[in-house]
Amino acid sequence: MIRFVKNFLSIAFAAIISTCVYGQKFDSLALTPQMGWNSWNKFACDINEDLIKSIADAMVSSGLKDAGYIYVNLDDCWHGKRDSLGFITADPVRFPHGIKALADYIHKKGLKIGIYSDAGRKTCAGRPGSLGHEYQDALTYAKWNIDYLKYDWCYTKDVNPRCAYPLMRDALYSAGRPILFSMCEWGSDKPWEWAADVGNSWRTTGDISCVFDAADNKGNYKRLGVVQIINKNAALRKFAGPGHWNDPDMLEVGNGMPINEDRAHFTMWCMMAAPLILGNDIRSMNEATREIIENKSVIAIDQDKLGIQGLRFEIKDSVQVWLKPLENGNWAFCLLNTGKRDKTFDIFWQKYNLEDNVSGLSTSFYKEIYSITNLWNGKNCGTTAKKCTVIVPAHDVVLYRLVPLKKNDCF
Ligand code: GLA
Repeated sequence: MIRFVKNFLSIAFAAIISTCVYGQKFDSLALTPQMGWNSWNKFACDINEDLIKSIADAMVSSGLKDAGYIYVNLDDCWHGKRDSLGFITADPVRFPHGIKALADYIHKKGLKIGIYSDAGRKTCAGRPGSLGHEYQDALTYAKWNIDYLKYDWCYTKDVNPRCAYPLMRDALYSAGRPILFSMCEWGSDKPWEWAADVGNSWRTTGDISCVFDAADNKGNYKRLGVVQIINKNAALRKFAGPGHWNDPDMLEVGNGMPINEDRAHFTMWCMMAAPLILGNDIRSMNEATREIIENKSVIAIDQDKLGIQGLRFEIKDSVQVWLKPLENGNWAFCLLNTGKRDKTFDIFWQKYNLEDNVSGLSTSFYKEIYSITNLWNGKNCGTTAKKCTVIVPAHDVVLYRLVPLKKNDCF
């Protein structure tokens, strides 16, 4: 009898482990795509507590906090060794006062702090990974008052992501502090199909590089530029929504692309309801960069409460036409020119009558007239009652908000 019970229990336990049916995630996080800053794209492993504190200062003084950027996130290379009990510590040279003191500093500014780990044996830069230490690490992050965890996927031979990510989700939940869970498994195992109850976002692609179209850069055909990432992410719109976003990787705005390409990159991340995680040195950015990342009416497209990723309606030569349903019957309408020449584009609005089966919303340019506001120059461009001809500059966008006119509005 005892043997029977033992066998039964071990089979039941094995079944639970193998199907990875675990608990739940915190349900009130990332109801709109998360906004913040991360150290990797600009600083890679070259981080320390003075740098992060000065970034937090700049988040406030530059107006980024007011624009909605709240998270200050450490990426790889903050780690020291594990202690004799297996608990992770911070690198004592780079972070001599420890992560808790840094978290206190960041919290005093009204911001939140993010940290980075990896589901494997090591992080991508070779620091200790969380494999086998998930509950210990989650407890440590909670004790340090961490608000956000990016969880990477290096050194994971023989690890199943469908178990590893739920395991860390459960560890975080058990630790009791709401920590936004940003999955970084690069889309290898299609997390959009299984992770809505696991993460608050999941990377859909490999790493971004600071280039608009990688196909333009000879020899770099394997790198992902902005255009390559858009092409991968566009197909996944039905999987995104409040609390669980497609993440096409962190922003490269301000890291060296020309201003038109930065504007197009930022706009498309907003059209795709992507997390807006800055990756530039915000302490020394120029005015043109600041104007892009702090444009509140463009950010509002990303942060719209409906949380619906935009759809690519058509591709005509080098021009892509995108629409995104917004609250109150509004729509974002965007033309993206991926080509190297400026394009003159006629917008025949009736062509864009659409029944969107993802959101259940529809445009109706026959029944409804919308006012048109250009969100990059703030200009009112009349209404959708008649055809509109615009020039879409090379590697750039035209972005409109369409608002249905009320009966008495006169234009
Ligand atoms: C991976 C991730 C990057 C970054 C690095 C850090 O490549 O995809 O975003 O976190 O690891 O080593």
